[in-house]
Amino acid sequence: MSKYILAIDQGTTSSRAIIFDKSGSVISMGQLEHEQIFPKAGWVEHDPQEIWTHTREVIGKALSTANLTRHDIAAVGITNQRETAVVWDRNTGKPIYNAIVWQDTRTQPIVDRIAKDGGVDRFKSIVGLPLATYFSGTKIAWILENVEGAREKADAGELMFGTTDTWVLWNLTGGVNGGVHATDVTNASRTLFMDLETLKWREDILDVFGVPLSMLPEIRSSSEVYGEAEPNSLLREVPIAGILGDQQAATFGQAAFDAGEAKNTYGTGNFLIFNTDTEIVHSKNGLLTTLGYKLGDEPAHYALEGSIAVTGSLVQWLRDNLGIIKDAPEIETLAKTVDDNGGAYFVPAFSGLFAPYWRADARGALVGLTRFVNKGHIARAALEATAFQTREVIDAVNADSGVPLTELKVDGGMIANNLLMQFQADILGVPVVRPVVAETTALGAAYAAGLAVGFWDGLDDLRKNWQEDSRWEPKMGEEERERLLRSWKKAVTKTFDWVD
Ligand code: G3P
Repeated sequence: MSKYILAIDQGTTSSRAIIFDKSGSVISMGQLEHEQIFPKAGWVEHDPQEIWTHTREVIGKALSTANLTRHDIAAVGITNQRETAVVWDRNTGKPIYNAIVWQDTRTQPIVDRIAKDGGVDRFKSIVGLPLATYFSGTKIAWILENVEGAREKADAGELMFGTTDTWVLWNLTGGVNGGVHATDVTNASRTLFMDLETLKWREDILDVFGVPLSMLPEIRSSSEVYGEAEPNSLLREVPIAGILGDQQAATFGQAAFDAGEAKNTYGTGNFLIFNTDTEIVHSKNGLLTTLGYKLGDEPAHYALEGSIAVTGSLVQWLRDNLGIIKDAPEIETLAKTVDDNGGAYFVPAFSGLFAPYWRADARGALVGLTRFVNKGHIARAALEATAFQTREVIDAVNADSGVPLTELKVDGGMIANNLLMQFQADILGVPVVRPVVAETTALGAAYAAGLAVGFWDGLDDLRKNWQEDSRWEPKMGEEERERLLRSWKKAVTKTFDWVD
């Protein structure tokens, strides 16, 4: 058997290919950022062609850096930014519109229209999600309603929809020449269209959105052979054998396979996933019910999720829109120039507020300002916002599960920031723990693919690969923690009612 697994991580800011060995160690990597397109306030798009070109290039980079060929790769796993919707013509293979990104809020009128009958929780008991702009369903409906000729083509069966896992899989397996049109249960669970129990598309819900079933990919497990890379590709004939949405992939990569295990990923947004095993748990505290993973024919595993729209992307915003830092790591240097937030609180409700509030009417606010506040305090407030939002999501998880988390496994780009990790432990009052292999998202997809082809024998093999790297213990007193939290919650209320 070949010695390595290649994972493709098609994320919100970049596409990466990472090659792993059996111990889960990174052998090589290729990475390319793609353009973030903001045509109007609240709109966020990506160019699907750019994403596909970059995916091919990073695969080439990862292989050549390690001096490997397709013969060294036992299987390919795909993980992806979830919900982002691509619609393309099945005859030409060309997208009919840019990908509408998960952060995009243009579909609020569609949400309002559908919620008129039954409210935002109209389908929640079936699909686990409230009606919100975040999920793919409203984005597909927008494309069909607004792109010229789209409705007719959709009705004639000429269009395909996919999240970016599906877009990459279809292209990698041949595109117009017989590409596989499929997704996995975790990605399907973010559309608003999949029944959590049957793991099938709900035609009654599709009808409400005006989306024909013929556009949708086949729903498969997270770990099985979907197809082989097409003859002209660098990966010719290598099986594509794993798909997981990126947050579920990170949970899998953290070896959080069992009930009560959780992880928090610090990316452009933050996403906490709490494994509920084979049980579908409906949250009473603003969390989503979602698929965790499904290995081949084995029963599906479910999870509760606390999604936070803006964390790392607030740091990007300070860099790109305000220019107060030159690169992302500088936020920590700037925040360290002050001892505390100076009374400033930054609530980055740029896409409304997701968990646990789900307020589409919220917009960002920087409050508590005096002439004392300088850019160091603002940098600090921006980092603290990530920790406060995470604390609120964990409060919701603890309330839903009844068993408080005793430590938090973390991953993602922002965990390199020590000041943030210490403040996170302080504001949670429990230790924060990071694994040696921090590339958990790609690793999770590699694991899913490797299990399907027998590269790894089973979950115990993978558990052995998880090793602790660093641990931050809480140092803050209870009184101080509560005082900060009270001010944060007050700041959050200032963001409500900004959009009619
Ligand atoms: O739900 C959105 C999430 O999957 C995006 O993750 O890491 O690409 O920002 P990321």
